[in-house]
Amino acid sequence: RRGQRAAVGLLILSGAGGCHGPQSVFSAGGADAIELNRLFAVMLVGAVILWISLNGLFFHVTRRRTGHMSRKLAEAVIIGGGILLPVVVLTALLAWGLSIMPDQRAPGEGLRVRITGEEWWWRVEYLPEGAAGPVISANELRLPAGRRTEIELQAGRVIHSFWVPGLGGKTDMIPGRTTRMSLEPVTPGTYRGQCAEFCGASHALMALNAVVLEEGDFARWLEAEAAPARPEEGEGRAIFFREGCGACHTIRGTPAAGAVGPDLTHFGSRTSLAAGILPMERAALVSWIANAGAIKPEAQMPAFAHLSKTELDRLAGWLEALE
Ligand code: CUA
Repeated sequence: RRGQRAAVGLLILSGAGGCHGPQSVFSAGGADAIELNRLFAVMLVGAVILWISLNGLFFHVTRRRTGHMSRKLAEAVIIGGGILLPVVVLTALLAWGLSIMPDQRAPGEGLRVRITGEEWWWRVEYLPEGAAGPVISANELRLPAGRRTEIELQAGRVIHSFWVPGLGGKTDMIPGRTTRMSLEPVTPGTYRGQCAEFCGASHALMALNAVVLEEGDFARWLEAEAAPARPEEGEGRAIFFREGCGACHTIRGTPAAGAVGPDLTHFGSRTSLAAGILPMERAALVSWIANAGAIKPEAQMPAFAHLSKTELDRLAGWLEALE
């Protein structure tokens, strides 16, 4: 008995302990996520009060010898608890819920970001006001704090869903359609997002980091991101072009101009590899290039296992230097 109770207690504690972290709705750092948390907290408290009241009523009735409650109490329960309370509470919650929705679709201020769900990675294009063309990046979203940014969502061949729980709600990505949402990050930091709609073999391996920067830092970053790469000469570069990597990947400032895979222009400056599932480290990058499909099933990136250890290392080093 005591053991069972302890086990249940531990289970609840460990569950509650898992509620925080970069991918948690409870680690809210965006205006919309904070608003949603408030709504959730009120609903949770309400549900707890309701649960306790109903149990109280249940005990009250079952402990009575006559086996039924007084007529007066029964009427109060049916009219008050069964009709009035739900109508008032649900109407208030509906009104509140509807009132916070328009914010999450509100137009941004200046910057737009277009995110396209691919298999299984994210194409990210920044469209600053008045710019000639988009600044293309991949697998990481950077946003300025204190400003609302409009996010246009698209999808390649199959449906996906964009969700960074710490910043705001979730919105589906549908092939052939553009869906819209906006985010207003408040606290700088790194938040993790995850594809939230089953999209194939590697759905679970489709994540991204959303990095929120102070306004000035963001402007500097975007300027650097818009600039072409400054690739080093050497064997790594030779291997990249010999193996035909440029047919799928773009590195602005070099002849590599493929659009099938992620843009690698400033690859080395990103916080993660392979759409948020590997650390940006040499060993991880080497195993990814050698056999991406072994890490991410059905990924379109072919295996380059025929390259020698030294060649893989040179290639990885060259890519890492693209900052
Ligand atoms: Cu993309 Cu699930």
